[in-house]
Amino acid sequence: MNVLSVASEVYPLIKTGGLADVAGALPLALKEHGVRTRTLMPGYPAVMAAVKHATRCHAFDDLLGHPATILQVEHHGLDLLILDAPALFGRPGGPYVGPDGRDHPDNWRRFAALSRAGAEIALGILDGWRPDLVHLHDWQTGLLPAYLRYAGRPAPPSLMTIHNIAFQGQYGVDIFPHLGLPPDAYAIDGVEYYGGVGYLKAGLQAATAISTVSPTYAEEILTPEFGMGLEGVLAARAGDLHGIVNGIDTRVWNPEHDPLIAATYGPSKLKRRRENKHAVAERFGLKHDDGPLFCVVSRLTWQKGMDLLADVTNEIVAQGGRLAVLGSGDAGLENAFHAAAARHPGRVSIHTGYDEPLSHLMQAGADAILIPSRFEPCGLTQLYGLRYGCIPVVARTGGLNDTVIDASPAALAARAATGVSFSPATTHTLQRAVNRTFRLYREPKTWAEMQKQGMKTDVSWDKSAGLYAQLYKNMTMKGR
Ligand code: ADP
Ligand code: GLC
Repeated sequence: MNVLSVASEVYPLIKTGGLADVAGALPLALKEHGVRTRTLMPGYPAVMAAVKHATRCHAFDDLLGHPATILQVEHHGLDLLILDAPALFGRPGGPYVGPDGRDHPDNWRRFAALSRAGAEIALGILDGWRPDLVHLHDWQTGLLPAYLRYAGRPAPPSLMTIHNIAFQGQYGVDIFPHLGLPPDAYAIDGVEYYGGVGYLKAGLQAATAISTVSPTYAEEILTPEFGMGLEGVLAARAGDLHGIVNGIDTRVWNPEHDPLIAATYGPSKLKRRRENKHAVAERFGLKHDDGPLFCVVSRLTWQKGMDLLADVTNEIVAQGGRLAVLGSGDAGLENAFHAAAARHPGRVSIHTGYDEPLSHLMQAGADAILIPSRFEPCGLTQLYGLRYGCIPVVARTGGLNDTVIDASPAALAARAATGVSFSPATTHTLQRAVNRTFRLYREPKTWAEMQKQGMKTDVSWDKSAGLYAQLYKNMTMKGR
């Protein structure tokens, strides 16, 4: 089967979060299941610099107002199609924000263009290649199923995956005439959303099927608390909504061979983690001692419950723990951690910014990773934690609920526990979970058993890639 995957970020070329990890790893895992994926992504400067040998395979004179080219290249096992449109993507800053941290003002046009190009490919614009199915990720690709639906020609089925329903791509009605859609697309069952245009809404409405990145989140988004206004649209399509948990690339994330950590180790050599713990303490300017070292690798946002964590730093220190934070995001939250570091020199420290190699070292050296998210569609850092023997301490929501087994008395007795979980996410429940973690840490045998159990857990893509392959198959059969 041939699949066109379309995403606005793809590891290892460009990444702001878990979406890139998934878009980069799933195509590789799907190969084992007989699925050949081509991935369409924007030609941001970092991407263009990394794919120097790309060849041209199609040129648009006018793609939503600008010329554009589709380039083709193999990169780290991925078969990439790059949308090279300098007027839209050739600029400094990140994929979504400029150097000043604000959204690019023409994001609506940039990602409509990505979706339009994807739709043209799906309809057969490339010589000798046409996908059997298109797989779309998040709001940036939400218009694609709408372009297919209103093209008036037979189109392949489409799967719209929600990685985070909080980001919806909502714009004013004034952009509608520039999208190249027929007037009847501006309708409640089309792209109209609360009097404007909704990209994710459009995708959820027009896609053949919908998925999200964990079974629990698939349930949660049907409720007003988690659906963020889209629960009604989703409820109407509940029969087509699937929850498939993410995996991780176990070759990139392997403590036995990871070149980015100080000492490699496996489940039978857990003592070697000490060297990594030492290295993390050094990097963060933390004191060395025997207490637990907690870490955070995260966007610093409300979603991630980072305000809750900032509130419990005093307690962590009071009980003899240390905290190393790697992340960036809301200025207020960054400041809260800087303030905690100033209160507790040598015991709390924050590195602001994005540092992929350091994130590996932290998973290899910290004793526990804290993830007190208010909502978490899947979450990948708890999966890295499991794989690296870094005990996940998580809020019981979304994918965190589906991947971490709480150290309840029953789970401990059955030797099934892999972490600590709590709900709902509040300062108080987080505090109690941290207390519980301290108690477990003081029982080295139990702690090591949990680490080993986590390291044994299958966090690879194998099973979930099989589920996607089956879903793809069902979708293409239905259309016949
Ligand atoms: P989200 O996509 O919501 O941010 P995920 O847990 O799915 O959450 O994925 C986050 C990804 O980004 C993980 O691969 C994590 O290791 C990485 N990450 C987040 N913040 C940083 C950072 N400051 N430095 C390095 N990697 C980070
Ligand atoms: C989103 C979610 C995160 C998920 C990731 C990859 O960024 O916030 O929970 O793991 O997408 O699916």
